[in-house]
Amino acid sequence: MIVDGHPYRTVDWDNGELVLIDQPVLPHRFQLWRSQDYREAAEAIRTMVVRGAGAIGATAAYALALATRQAPDTDFEGFVSEASRVLAATRPTAQNLFAGLAAVQAAISDAGGASKPASAREAALEAARAYANEDARACEAIGHHGASLLQDGWGVGTHCNAGWLAFVDWGSALSPVYVAHRSGKRLKVYVDETRPRGQGARLTAWELAGEGVEHVVIADNAFGHLASRGEIQAVITGADRIARNGDVANKIGTFGHAVICRHLGIPFYVAFPSSTIDPQTSSGDLIPIEERSQDEVRWTVGQDESGDLRRVRTVGPETQACNPAFDVTPATLVDGLVTETGIYPASTEGVSRILAAAQN
Ligand code: MRU
Repeated sequence: MIVDGHPYRTVDWDNGELVLIDQPVLPHRFQLWRSQDYREAAEAIRTMVVRGAGAIGATAAYALALATRQAPDTDFEGFVSEASRVLAATRPTAQNLFAGLAAVQAAISDAGGASKPASAREAALEAARAYANEDARACEAIGHHGASLLQDGWGVGTHCNAGWLAFVDWGSALSPVYVAHRSGKRLKVYVDETRPRGQGARLTAWELAGEGVEHVVIADNAFGHLASRGEIQAVITGADRIARNGDVANKIGTFGHAVICRHLGIPFYVAFPSSTIDPQTSSGDLIPIEERSQDEVRWTVGQDESGDLRRVRTVGPETQACNPAFDVTPATLVDGLVTETGIYPASTEGVSRILAAAQN
C-alpha cells in the first residue's frame, strides 16, 4: 500500500534487516522499525510493534531467517531451535505465527540444516520471502472474492484491524473494501474503536483515510444501535485462528457483533488466508485465548495538544482489570468464510474444501 507516495509492506526485508511499520505510534507518527536480531523481532511481536495474524506470521518467518544468520556454525541447530522456541512463545492465538515458523523450519531442514549452515541460511531467507509474498498474494485474492459481497451504497461494519497493517499487504477484512472502493462502489465503513488497544480507531481508520474510503469510528458499544437502525448492511472481520469446524477466534468483541448480526439478519463474514486455519484444532473451545496485561485496560496512550504522545490512566489506581484479547465466534453465526480461493460455508465441510483448494 502507498503512504505519502511510497509503497510499503507491513513486514519487509531490506539489505539484511527485518523492517516493520511501527504500529503503536500510528496514527500520530509513521516510522519504521528495523533490526538484525531475532530476539528484538520476538519482542516486537510480543509488545505489538507488529500485530495482526498475517503480519505476525511473516515477522516470525523473517525473524527465524535472522536467527540462522546469528547462529554460529558450531551450534547452528541449538541456536535455531532456541530461536524457534522464543518466537513461538511470543503470542498464543494467531495461527499464522506457527505457519510462518513451520515454513522456514521446513526449508532449513530440507537444505541440510546444521550439516550445511550456509545453504540453510539461504533457504531460510528464501522461505521467509516466499511466505511473505504468498500472504500478500492471498490477501489481494481475498479482496477480489470478497468485493462481490458488497453492494454500492452499503454501510459495512468491521472490528479491530484486519487491513494491510495486519498482513504483509492488502489485509483480509479490508481487502474486499479496497477492491470494491477502487472499482467505484461507494461504501461507508463503521470502524469499531476496539478497546483496549484501539486497533480500529488507530489503525483501520488511518488505513481507510489513506485509501480515501468513507468511514466513521464508533465506540464498540454503539454497533448494535447503529445496525438496528439500518446503517450497516454487512460485517466483515478478520480471524486469528479458524478451527476445523469453522469456529473463528478473532479480536475480543467479535462474538458479540456476530450475535447482533444474526439477531438483525445482517450477513456476518470472516475473511482470512488459508494459513489461518489450524487443522489440528477441532473446535473453537480448544483455541488458546491470549490473556494480556490488565494495564492495557487501565491505561491508554494518545497525543496531547502539543503533539506529544502521553500515557494516561483511565481507571482508579486500585481498580483491577481483566483483559482477554480474543473470543470465539461459533461457525453457526458466520455467513461465509472469504479466502484466497473463494467463499465457503463456515462448517467442517467448508474448511476441508478451503484446505483442499489451498493445496492445488
Ligand atoms: O491482537 P492483534 O491486534 O494482533 O489481533 C488482531 C486481530 O484480532 C484482528 O481482529 C484481526 O482481525 C485478525 S486479522 C489479522
